[in-house]
Amino acid sequence: MASKKQDKQEKQDKLEKLGRGVARIDIGISEDDRAKIADGLSALLADSYTLYLMTHNFHWNVTGPMFNTLHVMFMQQYTEQWTALDLIAERIRALGFPAPGTYREFVERASIKEIEGVPKAFDMVRSLVAAQEATARTARSLFPVVDDANDQPTADLLTQRLEVHEKTAWMLRSLLED
Ligand SMILES: [Fe+2]
Repeated sequence: MASKKQDKQEKQDKLEKLGRGVARIDIGISEDDRAKIADGLSALLADSYTLYLMTHNFHWNVTGPMFNTLHVMFMQQYTEQWTALDLIAERIRALGFPAPGTYREFVERASIKEIEGVPKAFDMVRSLVAAQEATARTARSLFPVVDDANDQPTADLLTQRLEVHEKTAWMLRSLLED
């Protein structure tokens, strides 16, 4: 009986060791740093998703003399943003953490507030400038921990997102000038 029990324990230990071996992440970034970066990326995913949905909403509902310009411009923006959501979520996964994927989590984590009703065209543009800038600030705030942890892939992703959000904010802002 004792040996059977011992065999069972050995088998269990072996399986656990194997499981740990498979699941263990050893990429040169401590678990603590990976957790901090994944948390910051989750906040960025929440802002990016909220911005994506706002842009798609405005694509559907924009009216007025600028309709065609804004309808097409918003489509280009939300299409790019949709692709970026996947890159951010998959970086969180590569760091060993689950990516948030529910509206409840996005509302809780986002720094961008949802817009109620259907604003006038230029109020839509103003809201998008603010949301683009907010997303840029969220991405930028993650740099110190990413730099400290020597996490180049996340730094690269953040740099790409910053470039897009700052350029798009400039283009939208230009529509508001005389
Ligand atoms: Fe459409």
